Amino acid sequence: MPSNEAIVIPDEPRNLDASNCVYPAEYEGHFDSLMIFKDEIRKAVQSLANKIHEDYQGCRPVMVCILKGANPFYQHLLDALQDHKQGYNTEFIRVSSYEGTNSTGHVKIEGGLDVNMLQQKHVILVEDIVDTGTTLSYLIPMLKEMTNPPPASIEVCSLLSKRINKPQKVEAKYVGFSIPDHFIVGYGLDHNELYRDTEDIWIISQKGIDFDPSCLS
Ligand code: IMP
Ligand code: MG
Repeated sequence: MPSNEAIVIPDEPRNLDASNCVYPAEYEGHFDSLMIFKDEIRKAVQSLANKIHEDYQGCRPVMVCILKGANPFYQHLLDALQDHKQGYNTEFIRVSSYEGTNSTGHVKIEGGLDVNMLQQKHVILVEDIVDTGTTLSYLIPMLKEMTNPPPASIEVCSLLSKRINKPQKVEAKYVGFSIPDHFIVGYGLDHNELYRDTEDIWIISQKGIDFDPSCLS
């Protein structure tokens, strides 16, 4: 169960006014609708930092960024923790399980992490989104196995959690938003490596799904 109150984005379209949102010109027509505004994201990140600070006062968690998707969320979360004078260490790991809009169910860990830095530490894995929970259901036991002595604790902080029609294999303790089951992009989340470079979070359109990124220079 999440320890904080996630903001629930309803199933029905929100009809948000996206006219002031900015994104690279090459993405024109690639979004069906806006799911979450930049300002809503910033507020949610602030509340997550408040909750983490409450729970980790007097200790220095190791904040592990799960690349690449969590990168913008991670940076803003660390900024907010600094405002609380909350100390932390940083680590990075690269993991992938998606090809196109489908989870392959096959989790690849592509290195970067020094597991010795997690020994006996309180670890917070920072994720962009928990969908099926497959990625975390591989990653967490693997980290425990690879680290000797193991971390004192491992928790997950995810900006988003998708409401899917079966139980998630792993639930994050800290969740910013509970969202309906759409393929979304932006604020770090990609489709074939595009759309990470937007500040808001969008539902991708068919044109976006079909777009061939190799035509961009
Ligand atoms: P899971 O293993 O099914 O929980 O999927 C988790 C990973 O898949 C996330 O860390 C994302 O990188 C990616 N992912 C899941 N849903 C989406 C989405 O809607 N848009 C972009 N990436 C997604
Ligand atoms: Mg991810």
